[in-house]
Amino acid sequence: MSDLRAAFMEGMSRAATFVAVATTDGPGGRAGVTISSLTSVSADGEHPSLLACIHHMSPAATAILKNRSFCANLLAQDQQTLSDLFAGRSGDDHATRFDRVAWEAGPLGQPNLTGASATFECRLATALLWETHHIIFGRVTDVRLSDNPEALLYGQRAYRRAIHLPPDS
Ligand SMILES: Cc1cc2nc3c(=O)[nH]c(=O)nc-3n(C[C@H](O)[C@H](O)[C@H](O)COP(=O)(O)O)c2cc1C
Repeated sequence: MSDLRAAFMEGMSRAATFVAVATTDGPGGRAGVTISSLTSVSADGEHPSLLACIHHMSPAATAILKNRSFCANLLAQDQQTLSDLFAGRSGDDHATRFDRVAWEAGPLGQPNLTGASATFECRLATALLWETHHIIFGRVTDVRLSDNPEALLYGQRAYRRAIHLPPDS
C-alpha cells in the first residue's frame, strides 16, 4: 500500500459517518449493500436528491443501474447485525440477505428495511463511474421516518453512536 493511500484510509477512518443500506429490486434483481457514502445533495430541486458511491464490482450497483430505482435505508443504532449482513460479513449472498430481515416494498417497489431510522426511496437520476465506484444520484420520491431517530454511526473502524456534547469550556 502506498503511503498516500494508507494516509488517506487512516484519515477517512476518522470521519464518523452514518451507516445506510442501499437496496434495489426489479428486472436487474434484488440486491442490497451497506454504505457509508450516502450524502444529501439538495432538498430544493424538483425533488430532494442524494448520492451514494458504490463499488463497481458490487452486484447492488449493477442492479441499481438496471432497475433505475433504489432505496437508501438509514440504519438505526440497534441494526449493526443488519449492517454486517449487507456488508457481506455474514457470508450470505445477495439473494438470501433479504430472507433474513424484515422489509416491505415502497411505492416504487424498492425494499424498505423495517426498523431503519429513515428510508428514502429514489428514482435513479444519473450515475458517473469514477475510478472504482459508481456515483449514483437519486431523486427522492418517498421518505419514511421511524420512531427511532438515533442513527448508527461508523468511525475509527467500529460502530458508534452520537452523544450530545456540552459547549467547549
Ligand atoms: C460501515 C460500512 C460502510 C461501507 N460503505 C461502503 C460504501 O460507501 N460504498 C461501497 O461500495 N462499499 C461500502 N462498504 C463495503 C460494502 O458493504 C461491501 O462489503 C462490499 O461492497 C463487498 O460486498 P458486495 O460484493 O456484496 O457488494 C461498506 C462497509 C461497511 C461495513
